[in-house]
Amino acid sequence: MVARETDGGIVLAREEVGDDFLGTGEVTIKVHYSSANYKDGLAITPRGGVVRNYPIVPGIDLTGEVIASEVDDFAPGDLVIAHGYDLGVSRNGGFAEYSKVPAEWVVRLDGLSTRDAATIGTAGFTAALSVRALLDHGLTPDDGAVLVTGATGGVGSVAIDILSGLGFEVIASTGKTDAGELLAELGANEVIGRLPLDPDAKPRPLNKASWAAAVDSVGGASLAHVLSAIGYGGAVAASGLTGGAELPATVLPFILRGVSLLGIDSVFLPIEKRRELWTQLGKDPRPQHLSTIESFTPITEVGSVLQSIKDGTHSGRTVIGVAGEF
Ligand SMILES: NC(=O)c1ccc[n+]([C@@H]2O[C@H](COP(=O)([O-])OP(=O)(O)OC[C@H]3O[C@@H](n4cnc5c(N)ncnc54)[C@H](OP(=O)(O)O)[C@@H]3O)[C@@H](O)[C@H]2O)c1
Repeated sequence: MVARETDGGIVLAREEVGDDFLGTGEVTIKVHYSSANYKDGLAITPRGGVVRNYPIVPGIDLTGEVIASEVDDFAPGDLVIAHGYDLGVSRNGGFAEYSKVPAEWVVRLDGLSTRDAATIGTAGFTAALSVRALLDHGLTPDDGAVLVTGATGGVGSVAIDILSGLGFEVIASTGKTDAGELLAELGANEVIGRLPLDPDAKPRPLNKASWAAAVDSVGGASLAHVLSAIGYGGAVAASGLTGGAELPATVLPFILRGVSLLGIDSVFLPIEKRRELWTQLGKDPRPQHLSTIESFTPITEVGSVLQSIKDGTHSGRTVIGVAGEF
């Protein structure tokens, strides 16, 4: 699926292309699945800010089977995932039957099928990275409830699943009024609206301490509010900006409550850490509700899924079927 700039915008369409589209890299992968991420929506949005040069094959993650390798670390038949780095933004990504990728971007799957790994995908990996950061900060279930914003989104839904599996009390913040049942099934103990609950109220630098920690993929005024309501010594793992890139906050939560703001980046996370976390995701405790979180869409219909991400109506994680679906 090639995204090309046209007069009116960006068109994503099926094309047959030559080997030159594979680019450079030591590992050639037959793609089984990709997945739909917020960034893929931006890749087909004019001035979306993530792709500099078109045409491009979008798809910031891919899972599949190695069919050729120029390095000893990988062999034909290995099941792998690659995500982030330049994939789908400045080199061709996962919305294609084949992909050639530098070996140092490739993670061998251990205990996960290519489908489950795609369900987790970039967003779920970012959720896992966020939870890891909170655990490394010292957070335990005894500290109190953990807030998850953008709860029905990819990062949010997998974060709820992982946190509840670890025994945390989870508060899910969502803009979708009909999502309560789904979020409870994933493990949310309570569901609240988007934050701040009253968007017209004058923001306060500090609010009642309500949560021990938070996984936030929304950013903007929502993140500012979350910071103002984290309890003493707590932390927020921040990964996203669906609610805006600005941060209209004060330093008071940091200097009066010792709150920490932990930046989360999955794109350039060093490969050793990336491989270690994927290995952990294949073991216990692993996400328990992937079949509830997952929807499936064939690659030829990926455009409609990306549109729902752009419209803010998408829920959970959509796996994009590639092999056999063109
Ligand atoms: N740092 C990293 O490495 C990294 C990796 C992956 C993703 N991200 C970022 O994390 C964010 C989420 O990614 P995703 O793949 O999970 O996206 P997604 O599946 O589209 O989920 C985003 C969720 O955000 C909420 N939302 C949407 N519009 C909003 C708005 N205007 N205000 C407040 N909330 C809104 C919605 O949840 P509710 O309807 O439930 O409120 C939506 O489901 C994106 O900004 C993405 O770029 C960063």
